[in-house]
Amino acid sequence: MNVEIDSARLQFEIDHLASISENPPPVVTRVLFSEADLRARKFVQGLCRDLALSLREDAVGNLFARWEGSQKLPPVATGSHIDAIPNAGKYDGVVGVLGAIEAIRALQRAGFRPQRSIELIVFTAEEPTRFGIGCVGSRLLSGVLPPGKAATLRDRAGKSLEAWRKGAGYDGQLDSVPLAANTYAAFIELHIEQGPVLEKENLSIGVVEKIAAPSTLRMQLTGVGGHAGAVLMPERRDALTAGAEIALAVETAARTSGSPDTVGTTGVFQIQPGAVNSVPFAALLEIDVRDTQITTRDATLEKIEAAAAEICDRRGVRLEQERLNVDPPAACDAGLVQSIAEVCRKTGATYRKMISRAYHDSLFMAQICPTAMIFIPCRGGISHRPDEFASPEGIAAGVQVLAGVLATAASRSAR
Ligand code: GLV
Ligand code: MN
Ligand code: MN
Repeated sequence: MNVEIDSARLQFEIDHLASISENPPPVVTRVLFSEADLRARKFVQGLCRDLALSLREDAVGNLFARWEGSQKLPPVATGSHIDAIPNAGKYDGVVGVLGAIEAIRALQRAGFRPQRSIELIVFTAEEPTRFGIGCVGSRLLSGVLPPGKAATLRDRAGKSLEAWRKGAGYDGQLDSVPLAANTYAAFIELHIEQGPVLEKENLSIGVVEKIAAPSTLRMQLTGVGGHAGAVLMPERRDALTAGAEIALAVETAARTSGSPDTVGTTGVFQIQPGAVNSVPFAALLEIDVRDTQITTRDATLEKIEAAAAEICDRRGVRLEQERLNVDPPAACDAGLVQSIAEVCRKTGATYRKMISRAYHDSLFMAQICPTAMIFIPCRGGISHRPDEFASPEGIAAGVQVLAGVLATAASRSAR
């Protein structure tokens, strides 16, 4: 079978999707259920319809596009996300969605007939921008996020997931979202590496064996505001300076965890009222802590929480802290890892096995089916920035490997 990737067409689609953004180019911002996110979903659905895939959307907006196989067996799934954090680039998630569509198109052009159905999944809200936790769609599908708990998710303005999804036209029951065990025979996600390893080593493909463990803390600090001229320093109960000390404690805890893989980031720091002549009376912090090892990640979280309590106590600032998510790492399926490596060898793609420091919907799909990821290089390892870049050739190499792995998995009649 001669599977040829149409790189020019795929690049055109990537560029077009990037133009559907809340900000002017080159910035891509597509926050969950924004007007841009809803338009982007329509664009992807149109591409799926052109391939005669059958479409289904669930109550949280996960999209399933199926190429029907000749046998009634659990399908092979692939996919990723098209939501994008504020000030993002074109490739994060998108390569795994549009790349999967091109893989299916290329297999169709080559005359391939799947025995197992091949299903593309476009996951809702892989990015945590709206609700503070990432992978809302795959958490729900996998049962990691119970529907009752999902219904309580709120954005920073207090608007609920329920209100957001219903406003976007998704008004089914959240209870219907979790998938039964054995729904899928396999899940394979194509993604940019978002790190420097493949480029540095001049390799085409990363075969992911493990995904690092993410976690998120949210801290609401309430101090006492007042006139910047009139409130003297001994009287200050400044929420911003308490938050600033906490942000430094995050950095110290991550740097001194004993694990080179611990990373800590205070990515959200909002103050009120935000006026130059007013003492900040409130601060909201969202803190991201990750590690490949759960023990050092958890110890770091505890250190940060204890430091925050001590800092706020000392400064007379009220602290409410919440763990939004604390997830274990995921191991990829050894059989799928081997299958990706075999396809690389057959197609002549250079590869190495690696870990993913970023999280992905695969972290949660791995809980319900054999899962693995195919990484491709991105320039300078840069991601979550408008200058994120993956070359058309690099993307085509990843899509070629994805097509090969999907074809192999969809041809296996035994589970
Ligand atoms: C995913 O976008 C992550 O933050 O790892
Ligand atoms: Mn991302
Ligand atoms: Mn991503």
